[in-house]
Order: sequence, then structure tokens, then C-alpha cells
Amino acid sequence: MSKEIKKEAKKLQKELTAHSYRYHVLDDPVISDLEYDYMLKTLVEIEEEFPEYSSPDSPTKRVGAPPLSSFSQAVHSIPMLSLDNAFDDKDVLDFHKRIVKKLNREDILYTVEPKLDGVAVELKYENGVLVQATTRGDGVTGEVITDNVRTIGSIPLKLLTDEQKAPALLEVRGEIIITRSDFNRLNNTRLENDETVFANPRNAAAGSLRQLDSKVTATRPLDIFVYGTGLVQGLEFSSQEQMLDLLKEFGFPVNSHIQPGLGVDKVLTFYKELESFREELAYEIDGMVIKVDDISLQKQLGEKIKSPRWAIAYKFPAMQKTTTIKDIIVQVGRTGVLTPVAILESVNIGGVMVSRATLHNEDLIKKKDIRIKDKALVMRAGDVIPKVVKIIESERKGNETLFAMPVQCPVCQSQIVKTKLKDTHIHKCVNASCQAQLKEKIKHFVSKKAFNIEGLGKKIVDQLVDEGMIQSFCDVFRLEMEKLADLDRMAEKSATNLVESIKKSKKISLRRFLFALGIDHAGENAAKLISEQFSTLEEVMGTSEETLKGIKGIGSETATAVCKFFSNIENRTIIKNIDSYGVLITNKQPLSNEFLDHLFNKKRIVLTGTLETMPRSEAKRQLEKLGASITSSVSSKTDFVVAGEKAGSKLTKAQTLGIEILEEKQFIKLLNPDIS
Ligand code: IVH
Repeated sequence: MSKEIKKEAKKLQKELTAHSYRYHVLDDPVISDLEYDYMLKTLVEIEEEFPEYSSPDSPTKRVGAPPLSSFSQAVHSIPMLSLDNAFDDKDVLDFHKRIVKKLNREDILYTVEPKLDGVAVELKYENGVLVQATTRGDGVTGEVITDNVRTIGSIPLKLLTDEQKAPALLEVRGEIIITRSDFNRLNNTRLENDETVFANPRNAAAGSLRQLDSKVTATRPLDIFVYGTGLVQGLEFSSQEQMLDLLKEFGFPVNSHIQPGLGVDKVLTFYKELESFREELAYEIDGMVIKVDDISLQKQLGEKIKSPRWAIAYKFPAMQKTTTIKDIIVQVGRTGVLTPVAILESVNIGGVMVSRATLHNEDLIKKKDIRIKDKALVMRAGDVIPKVVKIIESERKGNETLFAMPVQCPVCQSQIVKTKLKDTHIHKCVNASCQAQLKEKIKHFVSKKAFNIEGLGKKIVDQLVDEGMIQSFCDVFRLEMEKLADLDRMAEKSATNLVESIKKSKKISLRRFLFALGIDHAGENAAKLISEQFSTLEEVMGTSEETLKGIKGIGSETATAVCKFFSNIENRTIIKNIDSYGVLITNKQPLSNEFLDHLFNKKRIVLTGTLETMPRSEAKRQLEKLGASITSSVSSKTDFVVAGEKAGSKLTKAQTLGIEILEEKQFIKLLNPDIS
């Protein structure tokens, strides 16, 4: 009997380990979460009754251990060094020159890796089993966080290899991270529960790892990418690339944007590329690490006290800075909602001067306790409007003042109405003819993703509304050269150009037109989904709420808002008038059919190696446009592997699994069949 139970326990341990790897590392689960949880529950029950059948690498160890009273310390077998920084191309070229000089050879190849913005850890495997995890600490001594690290699903508790083949000792180093989406989810939950929010994913990861109760860590969405080793016995590798390939085979997540074997020129080119798609990555990076690829050369170069001579971090400009909140003003949006905005002491964040940051709403100001004259940490992320991450409480001087939302609209002086939307209090100006709302509606109407009228910028719209020349959407199409040229700061040439671009904008797709109307809850995506289901605007206007709700991706709030908009008589009159100014709404369905028919539609594709013709980010964009999904690792579910120059282990794996491999030329041809 007990033999059978032991067998059952071992079987469950093995199966759960395999499923966890498929889920967390390959991103390719084959059972549901529910099935996994059920199997895990069974195993927990067996191990509780028969602790002798448990082991340090059992998946049950991932749920957390009894709380500790403090962390113990451990000395690293090999110190965990930090990296010197490079801030521009010259710093990197100097680094390269030093290496060329020291090694007395020119042909140095580098492996470059995203510099992950998380927390460094070391994982120690004895005979293939995870026995200890430590933080970097001061580089010499770290804190032992084994129980916490065991809860991280993507970290193998046992190496994916036969026991006999496992190295006697393997210390793996990597960065624990939290993805942007997990971070936002985590912070939203914390806000709802009245807990303090984390300033950034790195702090959230660090805070989660420093829990004395590993059951708390188990609830945090931690992840890892590994990038190196410490002390290793019973295993050898000759290059950084080979080391990473081996680590991947052992079941560790290795970042998919690592580029092996680059000369220094290509290193600099890749830095620009990485910077260009930095914001699209699911996790935060703060630069690129450049490492001499050949390990024997690394050894020859050696280390300084704090950092190796064979690696350097090429940093990106910081995306967070501290500055002073000079004032808080209130803006009226196109739906009348008031948004408080922080007026900042101008500060350069990642190459852009930032002087304003949205504070979203009154609730958020209260939650973050933001006051006028506070020092604050401000963040900019790509195109996203800058926001205040947190205030620096220790910098308070006592002269900071509290902010209160106005009771009257700052533009039309109407009474402000306070309502609750989901869990947030909203302040709204309900005067439909409020000038501020009109201005914002028109700005949206003519914006890039809507009518795309070049030359009709925000300042001109403000002016046109102030002068009474625009009172509704239709007036945009009645703007005349002479009147425009009379406006302050408007040269005749600009007026002519503007009239010309208004004329050009009159031919518009149904999708853009629906978006331009600025209907509540109907953003770009809803406009796209609706336009795919109807041929003409008349059809959309005549449809029912039920039909709209039936469209996949359209929620009930959007359906209600769209129907309400089109049943409003004033809106119908405006649309009729727009029509009389010669606006032509087109809806080309064939375009999407063309995409649907494409070979890559609905296919799982892995990109590997360097493409000559385009950066990987561009290939990804084009493939996604055709409906393909890009995955980072090769599995039996992969349909194609696109292999560029220096494709490594992914190509080998694809060959083993018999997956169709496309060379760059074939790939480009299939991408654009018209180009021969
Ligand atoms: S290599 C001796 N590779 O950056 C080599 N570090 O300032 C040291 N980091 O403490 C590390 N991504 O936490 C390396 N791909 C990467 C990295 C990386 C992030 C962090 C790591 C380290 C710090 C060095």
C-alpha cells in the first residue's frame, strides 16, 4: 500500500513539475489551471500524511514554508560583481579599445543582453536540485531566500536533465522581475485593499522577495530570466552563448532578445534597436549588458574589485525623475470629466522635457497624499502621459498645501456633479455646451487616428472655438481660407495648406469616422470591431443594442453608449450635415479578408537570429498585423521558425521537432508575395 502511495507521490511530483515548466517557461500549458490545482492538492495531502515522500524539489514546496523570524546570511562562492556603466557610444568604444589592447587582438565578439530592471539572485543546484537561493547583498554575502524563491513557478526546483547527467554543482545567476501587466494588476489590488502601492516593478519584486513569510511571496507574480553562472563543478562551456543555451535546456527562462556574436559596430546598432522597442517589452529594462562572448577571453581579462573587465552596462536614459509639483490645475475633458493635472518644475525625462503629469482623479490624489509644493517621483513611459509615481515624504517642509476639486467648472462655471464610476469618484461638468468640452471633442475629431487633419493643432482649435468659428463638428468642413488667414499667428500659406488637408480628410474609413465621434466607451478598438461587422454608417446607426453586444469584444457599456449616441436627434442632425459637406465614408472589408487568407494568419511563429532586412520588432509587427502570434520558445505547437543569421538553440530545437523553418529570403517573400 505504502509503496503505491510512494509511487503515486513521485508520479504527481514528476507530472506537476513538467506542467509547471510548460506553463511558466514554455508558455504552452496542456492542462487547465483547475486540473493543475487539483493534482497539486492531492500531492499536498499525500505529503502531509507521508512527509517521507516529500523532497526539496517537490512542487508542493512552491506554496510557501512556515514563516522565518529573520533571514540567514550566506557567502557567495564567487562574489557577485556589479557592472561599470556606459552612457554613450564613446564609452562603449573606449571599453572595446581597452579590451583590444589588453588581449592584443581585434576580432572580439560580444553577446548583448537586455539589462533587466529587477533583483539579482543566485540559485544553487547540487546534483540537479535547488538547495539554496540568495540575494546579491553586498556582492560578497547575501541573504538566504530559498523558501521564497521556491514559490516562483518559472524557477526549476530540479534541473531538466537525467539525475546522472546533472552537474555536481551549478550556481545560476539571474534577475527576478515582475512584468508591467502583473505589476499594474498587483498595484490595483493593493489600492483596492487600501495598501500602499509599489513605486515600480523592481521595488515590487524586491519587496516580495524580502518577505519572512514565503506564503506572501507565493501570491506575488514573480518571474526570472537567468544570465550567468557562479561556481560550477562537473560542467563546462566555452562561450556566453553556449552557457545560455545550456541553462535553457536545464529549464531556465533565458531572455529571447539576447544577441550573441556581435562585433562592436553591430553592438551599437542593436542598442538603438533595443531602445526603440524597449517600451513594447512586457517587462522593464534599463539598458543593455555587453559581454565578451568567449569565456577564455573573459578569464584573461579578469575582474577589478567591483566589476569585471569583460562586461559593461550601456544604460538607457532614466524614465523616472524627481521634481517639484508647483501647482495642481484642473482640465475639462471631451466628456466633461475633470482631470487634475500637476504642473511641474520642468524636468528632462529620457530626453523629453516634462512639465505636466496627470493625477487622474481626486481619489488618487488622496490615496497618494499628493500636495502642492511636494517633491515627487515622476515617470514617463513612451507615449503615455507622464504620471506622478509617488511623493517623497521625507522632503516635506511643512509649507505643502492640500488640493481640493472645484465646485464649479473652471471654464463655464456650471455646477460640478460628483458621481461614482465603478470604484472611482468622477467630477463632471454636465453643461453640454461647455466650451472646454467642445474644444476637446474637436481636437479628438481632427486627431491623427480620426480625421487626421494636418495643420489643425490644439492651439488653433482653441482659437477657432474661442472666436466662435467652430461650434460643432460640421463647422470644421466650413473653414475658409480667408477667415483662417485672419486668425492670429496663421500665415496665408498655412491657411491654404489647412484648407487642402481638410479637403483631403473628407474621404474617411468607417472605422476612423466612428472613432472620431468620440462616443463614450467607444475607443479605437471598439470602432474597429464595429466597422468590421457593418458595411455602412447607416447600418451602424440602425442597429440594435443587442446586435452590438453580440460582437465579440464589445461590452454592454459600449453597446449602450453607441445606441444612445445615434438615437440622439442632435447627433443625427450633425451627421446628416457632415454628409452634406461632402464627407465620404468608406468601408473596405476586403483588406481584412486579404489578411485572413494569409499563410501566417493564426499561426504561432518564433523569430530567432538576426534578420538583415528588418529589426525583429518590425518583423513581429508585420506578422501580428497578419494575425500571427509570436512566441519566444519553440514547442510542438510552433508552426514556423523564422531563422536569421546566427540562429542558435531555437533553430536546433525546431529541426529536432520537425517544424517548418523559413530562411530570411523565404520569409520576406511569404510576407509580401507581391515582391519578387
Ligand atoms: S551580468 C559580472 N547580465 O545588473 C556580471 N547583469 O550592475 C554581472 N542585470 O547586479 C551581471 N540584467 O542585477 C548581467 N543580462 C544581465 C543583466 C544584469 C540585469 C543586473 C544584475 C547586476 C546588475 C549589474
